[in-house]
Amino acid sequence: MQANVVIVGSLNMDLVTRAPRLPRAGETLAGQSFVTVPGGKGANQAVAAARLGAKVAMIGCVGNDAYGEQLRAALLAEGIDCQAVTAVAGESTGVALIVVDDSSQNAIVIVAGGNGHVAPAVVDRFDALLSQAQVVICQLEIPVETVGHVLKRSRELGKIVILNPAPAVGPLPDDWYPWIDYLIPNESEATALTGLPVDSVTTAQAAAATLMKAGVGKVIVTLGEQGALFATQASAQHFAAPKVQAVDTTAAGDTFVGGFAAALAEGKSEAEAIRFGQVAAALSVTRSGAQPSIPTVEDVQGYPS
Ligand code: RIB
Repeated sequence: MQANVVIVGSLNMDLVTRAPRLPRAGETLAGQSFVTVPGGKGANQAVAAARLGAKVAMIGCVGNDAYGEQLRAALLAEGIDCQAVTAVAGESTGVALIVVDDSSQNAIVIVAGGNGHVAPAVVDRFDALLSQAQVVICQLEIPVETVGHVLKRSRELGKIVILNPAPAVGPLPDDWYPWIDYLIPNESEATALTGLPVDSVTTAQAAAATLMKAGVGKVIVTLGEQGALFATQASAQHFAAPKVQAVDTTAAGDTFVGGFAAALAEGKSEAEAIRFGQVAAALSVTRSGAQPSIPTVEDVQGYPS
């Protein structure tokens, strides 16, 4: 299989507790349930792209432990090329400690583990995968120098380059911006990148304008229930969000990114790809967990338009 979408990013085992609300500092709360679920922003985006129609390869690192084997198996079950998912001796697999409350909001603490070993040299070993791809996607749960390295190399190779700057870490290095075709932050990530408050379509537009002035090709700010703002040098367009009953928003952003990339790789227009990603993300919030919540092409096609 020749992958048309390549993801360089994180794999985490999510340790998920449901509780009536998120705990305050110093507080102990009784939770209602606990499950372990395959996650990690990189792996979630890989699963989303695969379920939503792309041929996918993943580049990343896990620990040499049972979680690592389970995460790899979960990707293989989706038909994802895992030749570049490497197990690091003496390291643990990345984990995410997640609390989901009754209003479906979450709070997450991540421990990098194997994800911290995704060095530029690891990616270079799999340059053939990047060379074959149409679309390359990164997030920020692996070392920052590696993300810069991948963006630069993917630009040199003429790929469609997507950066989902998650989790929010602050401004990006200036030299990265011209290497990015589509920058896809949510509200808090757009604020972290620009220092501007982002909580509406109007404020998202201001942040997108700042990011494009810095050199990014196009910006999609995802705004949860408020939809998404798609900005280019020439125009800005708002896409309303499909209305659904939210159960768990974990991996909604990942589902959007994976769906958007899969649709672009298939030759859909940007507007079609955004709508496709939005429906997929909306369906994902109606289900619990990261990877288990991600819909298939058939699910999205079955959604009333
Ligand atoms: O975006 C959701 C993901 O963030 C979770 O699956 C968790 O692993 C964290 O990386």
